[in-house]
Amino acid sequence: MPNKPLSFVILASGTGSNARALIEHAKGNPARFEAKALISDRDGIPALEMARELGVPGYVVNHRDENALLDLLKKLKPDWAFLAGYKRIVGKAFLDFFADAALGTARVLNVHPSLLPAYPGLGGYERAFKDGVKSSGVTVHFVDAGLDTGPVVLSESFARDEKDDLESFTAKGRKIEHRLYREALELAAAGKLGRKK
Ligand code: GRF
Repeated sequence: MPNKPLSFVILASGTGSNARALIEHAKGNPARFEAKALISDRDGIPALEMARELGVPGYVVNHRDENALLDLLKKLKPDWAFLAGYKRIVGKAFLDFFADAALGTARVLNVHPSLLPAYPGLGGYERAFKDGVKSSGVTVHFVDAGLDTGPVVLSESFARDEKDDLESFTAKGRKIEHRLYREALELAAAGKLGRKK
């Protein structure tokens, strides 16, 4: 009997390019992945529209209403959660829902626009670019109760060229984000996701 597909929800607050990368990857491999829903803390964002267009249900849940979020998770029963530009800290009940004793953490990942622990929080590319860094990067990490503090699972750096402006610098990072996040999805399905050595 083949294994059942890995099911997941995505939490997003904005554009949704990472959400799209995950959903398209899942749709291309339905035997292995099931994108159950895109959950947002705000209505009318492009990510919700995109998910619905790709046939993934979109839900808006006020981030302060932990019970509503938990009720939705109990209904959907996802194996994993992927934060994709979700501009909120997830609460304890959310992390407890995805707790995995074997992993020693929750089955919740985030993609972050810097090489953590540099530039945690919002505006990773903007702040690094303004600081004149020679290189920056992307980190995929497990989510814990802190701000971008969970164990790193994948990371990759990229160089800033002299001709780069903020737009081209950001575009380089975004492209890496999409690839690393798809790779994280694959690793999760293969049961190979662990802390980076
Ligand atoms: C990405 O840069 C991600 O790393 C950060 O927020 C941004 C979201 O972009 N957490 P998108 O909505 O996935 O296009």
